[in-house]
Order: sequence, then C-alpha cells, then structure tokens
Amino acid sequence: MIDGKKVLFSGMQATGNLTLGNYLGALKNWVTLSDEYECFYSVVDMHSITVRQDSAELRSRARKLLTLYIAAGLDPEKNCIYYQSHVSGHAELAWILNCFTYMGELSRMTQFKDKSAKHADNINAGLFTYPVLMAADILLYQADVVPVGIDQMQHLELTRDIAQRFNAIYGDVFTVPEPYIGKVGARIMSLQDPSKKMSKSDENPNASIYLMDDPDTIMRKFKRAVTDSVGAVRYNEEEQPGICNLIDIYCACTGKSREETEKEFDGKGYGDFKTAVGESVVEKLRPLQEKMAELEKNKDYIDSVIKNNAERAAYVSNKTLRKVQKKVGFPIRP
Ligand code: TRP
Repeated sequence: MIDGKKVLFSGMQATGNLTLGNYLGALKNWVTLSDEYECFYSVVDMHSITVRQDSAELRSRARKLLTLYIAAGLDPEKNCIYYQSHVSGHAELAWILNCFTYMGELSRMTQFKDKSAKHADNINAGLFTYPVLMAADILLYQADVVPVGIDQMQHLELTRDIAQRFNAIYGDVFTVPEPYIGKVGARIMSLQDPSKKMSKSDENPNASIYLMDDPDTIMRKFKRAVTDSVGAVRYNEEEQPGICNLIDIYCACTGKSREETEKEFDGKGYGDFKTAVGESVVEKLRPLQEKMAELEKNKDYIDSVIKNNAERAAYVSNKTLRKVQKKVGFPIRP
C-alpha cells in the first residue's frame, strides 16, 4: 500500500514498433487503472538486451515508448513512468533472487524455450534468468497487482513462487502479487493470420497496425486483412476468426457492442466493413499521434519526467532492497 492505494506494476519492452494490439490490449487499460492504483510503469530496457540490440536504436525506441506512455494518457505526476536501467535496485534484487530460484524452474519457462530456439546462436545466461529480473521488478515495489498478457502468466506464477519461498524463510518481506487480467475482447489478433496474436515482432508488416502508421497505411492494411468466404459480418469464432478480430477492433475503437456492430453491417459487404474499421482506428489513433508529436518536441519536459520519476522509483524500491539485504545477512550500512 502507498498512500492507502494498492500498488500496480507493469512494464513493456522497447523492442519493435508498438502495435494496435499493445495499445488496445494493454496501454489503454493501464490508463483506466491509474486512478485506482498507485502505478509503476516501467520501460524494461534491461530485459531487451537478452537478445542482441542495436544500441542507438534501443535508446531511441526506449525514449519513444516512455513518451508514448504519456501520450496515451498516463499522467507522469500520478504514475511513476521510468526506465528500468535508471534504478539500480532492479539488478541488485535480481541477483539476490537468483539465489532463490532453481535451474529447473527456469528451464521450464516456455518463453525461454521459444527464445532459445529462435536465437540459437545466443542462448545467454540473461535470457535464462530473464524471469528473475521480472520478479525483481515486481517485488521491489511490493506490487499487489500486475496486469499482464496470458504469455507472461508463467513468469508471474514464478514471481509468486519466489516471493513465497523467500517469505517462508525470512518472514513477510514481499507482497505476493496477483495477476490482473484485462477485460475480454481486448486480445487483438494478426490481420494476416487471425489464429496468431498481433505482434510487434511479426515479419509481415501487413499483419500489424503500428501505432504510428499514417491513415493511408492503416486503411490499406485493413483492406488486405484476411477474412473468409462466408460474406456476412457475424461474430462466429469457428468459421470467421478474421471477421471476429475486426469486430473486436471496431468495438474497442468505437465503444459499440458486438451485437450493435453486427446490426450496423447487416447486409453489407466486407469492403464496407473494412473501410469502417480502418476509419475507426485512424480516428482512435489520431489524438495519440498528435500528442506524441507534441511531446517529442518538448525535450526538457520529457527529460524532467525521466529524472523525477527515476528518483521516486529509486526511493520506493530502496526501502524493499534494504530490507531484503538485511534479511539475507549483508552488513548494515553505518
Ligand atoms: N516480460 C514482459 C514482457 O515481455 C515485460 C516485463 C518485464 C514485465 N518486467 C515486468 C511485465 C514486470 C510486467 C511486470 O511483456
């Protein structure tokens, strides 16, 4: 608890261009959660170097992502928006937690298995202990809730196990975090293969709408979106996964329900529907893109946010870190 509010922690990596899926599935929810919880939203740049990155590009993407958090509506006065790498406690706690995590547990992580298959030439120790750093992120702030996608649930389960294991030895040191699963319907799928999640790392640029895509690009991608031969705008998951995805996107952007959408496009063709979905996305992203452009011009403001919030994150996280260091037997600082 901080000032009577429960604590929320989440983070995103600055690798790849953020997609409409990241926005509708995560970022938009973060904004609605920011009133109820004391929120820490990190740009987890330390996680990114588990796969090889171009330095200049990582730095510039990280800055864009942090700016995007603000452009999407997170008030940096109320939410702690900061770079993971600016708060040394993450690495320090991660080391300690490494000593309370088993090799067997880490070997079972599906993301590790997937990523080591994908980057067979660079299966580094960081990739292996990635979930421990994630546990440190969460436990440092004594987070009560962690909004995560289904793909990160296994890491969150491990975080809970590590916290409970530590608490069982040393007393109640860590808050054991709960997952926060967002509303259904926010899971946005690829426009080219509706059985796959829309992903920022998809090789096919037509599969994803990037948050900074211009209107023409957005309209073109929706025109090319994969549908089916049924020919009716119906929410039929079995036979029409592509159309279901477009309906979900349309609903998320317009606030309409699935039923209203089906009614609105009753008797109309896919061409008309795709145009409407595209336009709804263009309108949804317009204010975000405008705000982004405005913020990017305001270098001093963003710099001050980065500095102030890192200081606050360091202050809060140090309280946990000092307690943990004492518990495990490190010498007290005179
Ligand atoms: N591993 C998460 C992802 O790739 C990002 C992340 C790092 C995170 N630390 C976190 C998410 C802590 C939630 C809480 O999506």
